[in-house]
Amino acid sequence: MAAILEAQDLRMTFYDPNRADVLALDGMSLAVEEGEFLAIVGPSGCGKSTLLRLLAGLLRPISGRVTYRGQPLTAPQREIGYVFQRSNLMPWRTVQANIRLPLEIAHAPQAETDARARSFISLVGLDGFADSYPAQLSGGMQQRVALARALIHEPAVLLLDEPFGSLDALTRERMNAELLRIWNLRRPTVVMVTHSISEAVFLADRVVVLTARPGRARAEFRIPLLRPRDLALTAEPAFVQLTRAVRSEIVD
Ligand SMILES: Nc1ncnc2c1ncn2[C@@H]1O[C@H](COP(=O)(O)OP(=O)(O)OP(=O)(O)O)[C@@H](O)[C@H]1O
Ligand SMILES: [Mg+2]
Repeated sequence: MAAILEAQDLRMTFYDPNRADVLALDGMSLAVEEGEFLAIVGPSGCGKSTLLRLLAGLLRPISGRVTYRGQPLTAPQREIGYVFQRSNLMPWRTVQANIRLPLEIAHAPQAETDARARSFISLVGLDGFADSYPAQLSGGMQQRVALARALIHEPAVLLLDEPFGSLDALTRERMNAELLRIWNLRRPTVVMVTHSISEAVFLADRVVVLTARPGRARAEFRIPLLRPRDLALTAEPAFVQLTRAVRSEIVD
């Protein structure tokens, strides 16, 4: 299958005036197939967020390259949506105004942006909260707003950096089920970084495990579990076996 997004032999260092440079990634290669849900796991600090920012065109590698649909990626693209670990909402803007922000930046007409923002508010289950401010929402609701904001351009690729990492376990499970529902409707290509192995196995078609820093791909697992998936799946032997296999490849 064709790769929509590809990382080839990436090397990334961060300059730090107070100590030695940090080599975050070295020899990192990855091909993301169109339409797949890919999860990335690995030890803390191994370069997962760095990788995601490189895949988004938010950072440039020291060497190696990222291609999007076969073309070198040198700047952020509208077709590539990004959700940060913290929702990064603008506190002075309402839910609706946060969600329509990317369209405003693209100078879309206001009548159109409002209608679109409303339909995405519904999509993420926030009907009735269009005029609320982020501080009036729970953490899970704020992440829904961030998800809607990333989805409003109908991106071909959605990059998610531990989008539910700050939520309690129960809310997180619900958000995962919700994410799968939305993914099913639109089927964007998804690359999601997560600390949770069971979350990765539950959501993804494929899980890539990175080495400790400097990160590079160490192992990958196809997840052949049938879709649609629901939470009952997590109790099944096949699921438990896959999570165990993935865990055994994570080495600090
Ligand atoms: N902007 C930056 N400036 C300097 N060093 C950085 C910067 N961003 C990341 N690093 C360093 O690069 C390494 C990888 O960081 P990164 O955030 O990509 O790891 P991570 O795998 O996402 O970690 P975590 O699982 O804790 O989120 C770390 O050693 C970090 O200190
Ligand atoms: Mg990170």
